[in-house]
Amino acid sequence: MPEKIILDCDPGHDDAVALLLAHGSPDIELLAVTTVVGNQTLAKVTRNALAVARIAGITDVPFAAGADRPLVRRIEVADDIHGETGLDGPDLPDPALELDDRHAVDLIIDTVLAHEPGTVTLVPTGGLTNIALAARREPRIVERVKKVVLMGGGVHVGNRTAVAEFNIFIDPEAADVVFSAGWDVVMVGLDLTHQALATPEVAARIAAVGTGPAAFVGELLDFFGRTYRDVQGFDAPPVHDPCAVAHVIDPSIVRAVPTPIEVETAGALTLGMTVADLRGPAPAGCRTSAAMELDHERFWDLVVDALERIGENPGSGWTPSGRVQVDGQVPA
Ligand code: BDR
Ligand code: CA
Repeated sequence: MPEKIILDCDPGHDDAVALLLAHGSPDIELLAVTTVVGNQTLAKVTRNALAVARIAGITDVPFAAGADRPLVRRIEVADDIHGETGLDGPDLPDPALELDDRHAVDLIIDTVLAHEPGTVTLVPTGGLTNIALAARREPRIVERVKKVVLMGGGVHVGNRTAVAEFNIFIDPEAADVVFSAGWDVVMVGLDLTHQALATPEVAARIAAVGTGPAAFVGELLDFFGRTYRDVQGFDAPPVHDPCAVAHVIDPSIVRAVPTPIEVETAGALTLGMTVADLRGPAPAGCRTSAAMELDHERFWDLVVDALERIGENPGSGWTPSGRVQVDGQVPA
């Protein structure tokens, strides 16, 4: 049986790949997609999500927009990494899907309550504002979801600051609510996602799929690779968000270890840090775990397989920009 998920995202180059993986994987049933302020404003990431849906050929999944600001703090976007639109690089088609009328928080709650207890996994790949609001607004979902598999945080490394990862840093109070709510949380953080590098070999594999949606991913990774090189000094970009989807598909590919994790909400230098206590075996009843080890080859197999299954999509409204060559190499 495919795993039922709700993807809560802020596309975002890697969120877009997560959406394509979730849609193309035979092991995932995508119940709903919700958006949250993060990489860019809510309006921009919501438009991006709908444009990616059109490119992927997603027609029967509800999409809803959620929180347009963090719970307490000012908005911080990641335009240094994702550009002015939040999805710079490829030219995006106009969306074909209409947004669901509901607020994302209501769509999340309705969707969880409409399914059998223990069957729906929440997969947040942006700030945790919507998920925290949903848990507070309808506490029954905390008992009913199977688990929360989130991209965010890290045990040994940060990216927005020396010790804080972007998704946690932009709304640490929401992250604190989510990590301490009492449901199972798998933190797919930077320790793991920095292993999910889109190397030139990976780009060539994706280009070899030979379809429009695959070429779209090639253009995303081209832009993402440039900003990661210029801003963070990476030779190849770490493609964070699909790692959370991959954990749901096969936890032997994205391997997590149980460990207590708490979110720093007060530190002057450590705001947004996810503090994991790895001093010994996790205590009995520990509900949190941290993903530490990626099977790189099998992870990219999942992404390539999903793109092959999505295939060509004549209704995508998308045409390649021509700024990236088919072998994944950037023209001089
Ligand atoms: C996370 O931050 C965002 O910029 C990415 O989309 C990813 O979810 C990585 O720190
Ligand atoms: Ca994201």
